[in-house]
Amino acid sequence: MGRSNEEIIGRDDVDDLGEILLLSNQDRDEVIHGVESNADTIFTWDYDKGQRPALEKLYEKAKNSMWNGETDLDWSIEVDQEEQARKSPMTMNAELLQELGIDLKGTSLEKWDEDQWIAHAIESQNWSLSQFMHGEQGALLCTAKIVETVPWVDAKYYASTQVMDEARHVEVFSKYLDTKLSGHYPINHHLKLLLDDIISDSRWDMTYLGMQIMVEGLALAAFGLAIQVTSDPLLKKLLRYVMSDEARHVAFGVLSLQEFYAELSDAEMMDRQEFAFEAAVRMRDRFLMQEVWEKEGIPVKEAIRIFALDDEETKNQDPFQQLLFSKIVPNCKKLGLLDANDGWLRKRFDTLGVSQFEDWTDTGEEYELLDEVAKDRDGVTRFADLGVRQP
Ligand SMILES: [Fe+2]
Ligand SMILES: [Fe+2]
Repeated sequence: MGRSNEEIIGRDDVDDLGEILLLSNQDRDEVIHGVESNADTIFTWDYDKGQRPALEKLYEKAKNSMWNGETDLDWSIEVDQEEQARKSPMTMNAELLQELGIDLKGTSLEKWDEDQWIAHAIESQNWSLSQFMHGEQGALLCTAKIVETVPWVDAKYYASTQVMDEARHVEVFSKYLDTKLSGHYPINHHLKLLLDDIISDSRWDMTYLGMQIMVEGLALAAFGLAIQVTSDPLLKKLLRYVMSDEARHVAFGVLSLQEFYAELSDAEMMDRQEFAFEAAVRMRDRFLMQEVWEKEGIPVKEAIRIFALDDEETKNQDPFQQLLFSKIVPNCKKLGLLDANDGWLRKRFDTLGVSQFEDWTDTGEEYELLDEVAKDRDGVTRFADLGVRQP
């Protein structure tokens, strides 16, 4: 039952590093990128607003939660990226390596000194924010597509507010990169593959599943972690605003698909489960930061072996990486995707080591809480906790 890993993601072993690294962005100078969208554009003549009260409520909330990246953020704040890197708890040093149980003896990183790790932290930040920005553009395009393809008027209304939110997100990440950081990275190939797949699928719910549930679910968790790590007040606030929008976006996916998936056959659910698994693997692969190691001249395979997909024992045990799935898994459960077809997706998530999150809070209601806290200027810590909160 269900297709094999080979058929879904193009390789048998999800952790096959050789295969993962074969996929890299070959066209770094590309300026525009076309993807064929195979979906029909749907008019509805049923204008009755509020037929789906949960979506209507979300729409009303969204209209009142708009912010302006130019005026609501203080761009005069100076950001010393190096100083930030020195203060970041994520920047590698001897102490942290020991804590993580990582021994660099005999590796290409053995001789790295503090300055090299700081430089690496700076590159990593440039890379992360660049990928966030590209992901945000993916969300912008996907949501515009949902406006066209979803048959319900309440969903079209809501999705239109999300288009505006995503434009803002692309804008602020791009501005932060340009004015506060020290370099851009092109889109990671695994992320690009995923975005292309989401855009080209003809079924309207697949856009939601790929974007609102998988990509945005991961973004919500990643922003929650990033907000805790950074000490830059500008980035903290930027992420806080973005996150309160993202929580609504993920809720939009959960609330829309819950209704639709309840009616699907086992075979139709299988298609969705396979797509969710594919998306999860692509996103896990996209976080390996292969472009950063390449730029630094460190053999990528070696670096990834050290920090992520290690030997059998520690494989997939990177707690940071696992936390990225802390929103996706409970939301998939709420949609019935974990349990359908004898728990097919749960078993696949087991191979990624992320099923453990299934009973964490889902995002169907959490957005209200996130929205409240986003407005609470002193609520940084509480807000950060929400990003990775356990029930
Ligand atoms: Fe966004
Ligand atoms: Fe979003």
